[in-house]
Amino acid sequence: MQLFGLSYSKVKFMRNSLVRIPFARYYSHTDNIVLGIETSCDDTGCAIINNNGCILGETLLSQNVTHLRYGGVNPLIARDLHRDNIELAVKGTLNKAQLSMKDIDAIAVTVKPGLLFSLQIGVKFAMHLSKIHNKPIIPIHHMEAHALAARICHNIDFPFLALLISGGHCLLTLVRGVDDFLLLGETLDNAPGEVLDKVARRMKLRNIPEYSQVSGGRAVELAAQKSINRDLFEFPVPLNKIRDCNFSFSGLKEAFLRHLFNKESEHYIQGDEIIPEVNDLCAGFQMAIAKHLVHRTERAVQFCEKNNYLPKTTKSIVVSGGVACNNFFFECLQSLQSIGCNVFRPPHTLCTDNGIMIAWNGIEKLKTGYIHTSFDLNEVDPVAPLGIDIKDKVIDANIHVKSTRLKNFL
Ligand code: KG4
Ligand code: ZN
Repeated sequence: MQLFGLSYSKVKFMRNSLVRIPFARYYSHTDNIVLGIETSCDDTGCAIINNNGCILGETLLSQNVTHLRYGGVNPLIARDLHRDNIELAVKGTLNKAQLSMKDIDAIAVTVKPGLLFSLQIGVKFAMHLSKIHNKPIIPIHHMEAHALAARICHNIDFPFLALLISGGHCLLTLVRGVDDFLLLGETLDNAPGEVLDKVARRMKLRNIPEYSQVSGGRAVELAAQKSINRDLFEFPVPLNKIRDCNFSFSGLKEAFLRHLFNKESEHYIQGDEIIPEVNDLCAGFQMAIAKHLVHRTERAVQFCEKNNYLPKTTKSIVVSGGVACNNFFFECLQSLQSIGCNVFRPPHTLCTDNGIMIAWNGIEKLKTGYIHTSFDLNEVDPVAPLGIDIKDKVIDANIHVKSTRLKNFL
């Protein structure tokens, strides 16, 4: 398969099933090939990608099913599985690409943020490859990679707004360049994926066979689709009166647990039994999260407009991270088209953690003239913030967002 030099091509790329993604927005005569390694949480990801955005090989060894059994990601088990899988993932990816390490120009690896022990496995392996094959390392910030992933398959120019929603994060950032991020807001407590996973567990959704192998967030989305009474449960929209771009999900989680407890008592639910209103409860909860996401994102757009941070003509919003796979959230966010925004998201397989986005970030950095300096294990940082923090500037702007759009979702 000839892949180099193709622009706007369709490339088959391997995962468990064959997926087709339109690629390649750039054509460059300086072909770089980057190998990307991702081990920040519970997925061992590896990919090889070239300047044109063509995926030459990819492997994703997910630990999801193992951690589901433990009721959440267990850091020590995650580390051990990464250790077992990392070499397999890299070798498998080189094989799929029919390349060897001598064909690779640089190794991009997630160094922050994430689980310390998980990050260390990927970084140590990258350092080992770097040493024996004499290849430079490009350290990657996991959240920056999520934000830029949409540029693999959509024409999105800088600057753009990114809403990153996952199991570990929730933030709004203005992306001005490959290395230039302004942080507008972030969660004050939990991440949406974390809360969705928790409520799915508490509702025992895993006992329903069709949800037993999917993430908690996906299970809630599927159950909500079956709701016949979406208004049965009321949830407050978090931080409704606070004029910033921060998020909060802990109050929603508490409200959810109260509703569930009341229904379980009402129906004398015991053991593995599930409340009959489970679908309606999922729908109400999902709706409250959607309203919260749209509300904060709309304020971020207005803040950027006020400060001329986004072009007047085309305002792009990228939604990425595992929770962005939720079609209901994405549809609700698309309501921001009415204020002149184009809302993009990467394909589902690029929203969740993967090696492709890491390799792509390496390519993007090389294109901006990234210069390799020495690298050591101390660069691993589990809690690294993203970009320059301008949350206070958002608060000072004191922007009021009308809630009419939020009422019109149903
Ligand atoms: O980005 P990701 O793969 O890993 C982190 O960096 O956290 O995101 C995983 C999260 C999990 O909490 C999972 O429940 C959530 O993404 N998720 C979803 C959906 N698919 C995955 N949440 C809502 N709806 C979905 N369809
Ligand atoms: Zn992630």
